[in-house]
Amino acid sequence: QLPCTVREFSEAAGVPASQVLRILMEEGVMATMNALIDDDLTELIAAELGVNLELKEAVSVEDELLASIRDRQDDEADLVSRPPVITFLGHVDHGKTSLLDRIIDIDVVSGESGGITQHIRAYTIEKDGRRISFVDTPGHEAFTEMRARGANVTDIAVLVVAADDGVMPQTEEAISHAQAAEVPIVVALNKTDLPGVDLNRAMQGLSTNGLLPSEWGGDVEVVKTSAITGDGLDELLDTVLTVAELHEYKANPNRQAMGTCLEAQQEPGRGVVAKIIVQNGTLRVGDVIVCGQSYGRVKAMYDTLLPNQRYEEAGPSTPVNVTGFDTAPGAGEHFYVLDDIADARTIAESRSDSHRKTALSGGVQHVTLETLFDR
Ligand code: GTP
Ligand code: MG
Repeated sequence: QLPCTVREFSEAAGVPASQVLRILMEEGVMATMNALIDDDLTELIAAELGVNLELKEAVSVEDELLASIRDRQDDEADLVSRPPVITFLGHVDHGKTSLLDRIIDIDVVSGESGGITQHIRAYTIEKDGRRISFVDTPGHEAFTEMRARGANVTDIAVLVVAADDGVMPQTEEAISHAQAAEVPIVVALNKTDLPGVDLNRAMQGLSTNGLLPSEWGGDVEVVKTSAITGDGLDELLDTVLTVAELHEYKANPNRQAMGTCLEAQQEPGRGVVAKIIVQNGTLRVGDVIVCGQSYGRVKAMYDTLLPNQRYEEAGPSTPVNVTGFDTAPGAGEHFYVLDDIADARTIAESRSDSHRKTALSGGVQHVTLETLFDR
């Protein structure tokens, strides 16, 4: 199976590793026993050694299994509408958490250290009998990755821009995340209660960043809000819900769940707690679940707002805190429910295996735009 390491090749081909290393050296490749050799090199070595290379499918059985789950199309008849997922993005301190607090009628801001959001938060609320899921992301520049994650699980991005500050670096970054995720953007022009704010300047900033406000003839809804007075909040929610209605988000609750891990950590006395959002299907207590290099059986599910509220199941667009994973899954990893715990273990282990191999060989380093910006 390819790609393989020098050691694996020599074992499979029954030739000493030193011979493989020598051929590699002749090709100008300095490798170690655990280095991954790519397909071309493997073929070349096989030819040099005169061994017959029987190529197995490069896609592993595990990946095939997951792909078959992921790609399984839902019957039109099984699709029902699901709550929209709405993510608040924007520059630090522009009022994302305050606006959400007002909307869902809780107080998160005053419990935050230094008033800065450092986690990705997700809540489902019911408004006039309809459920809506919200994701709150941090605006501090250090949390680029969390903004990207928020943008990736969302249906609609609410871009929060403080009227006194206008468009700032993380506002621009949030715009690119939302655009990359191809989700509609609604702007909350916030802190309009502050005396002497120049709304036109902020609108100008939006326009130069490709978001032309509808009152200026563009197609971006800009709602003027204040999290302090509550002004514009109803309008903001209405605007977002109108956009949501245009799209008719649907999912199939009658299949095994799949979704994304937003964040996860080890908690004293509880084990691994993973905040996940179900994107399709229904997740149930007892389900076998695999997420990146982690797997397990869902032990319990808790409300993301009320820590003592437990659930037996969570349907599409629902964020929940899940216990039962063996290790903390990577944030942003997709999760899948499988029938067989042995499959889940194999997948998780083979992933951590190849992860380890890559690390050992010092090979493939995935440098993404995000990690570049993070530095
Ligand atoms: P991060 O999560 O750290 O990115 O910040 P945030 O965007 O969530 O901002 P947060 O809601 O924590 O608000 C930052 C500060 O601005 C707090 O002191 C709020 O009280 C204040 N604030 C938020 N919204 C308004 C508003 O509409 N008007 C005024 N005057 N102050 C506001
Ligand atoms: Mg915040």
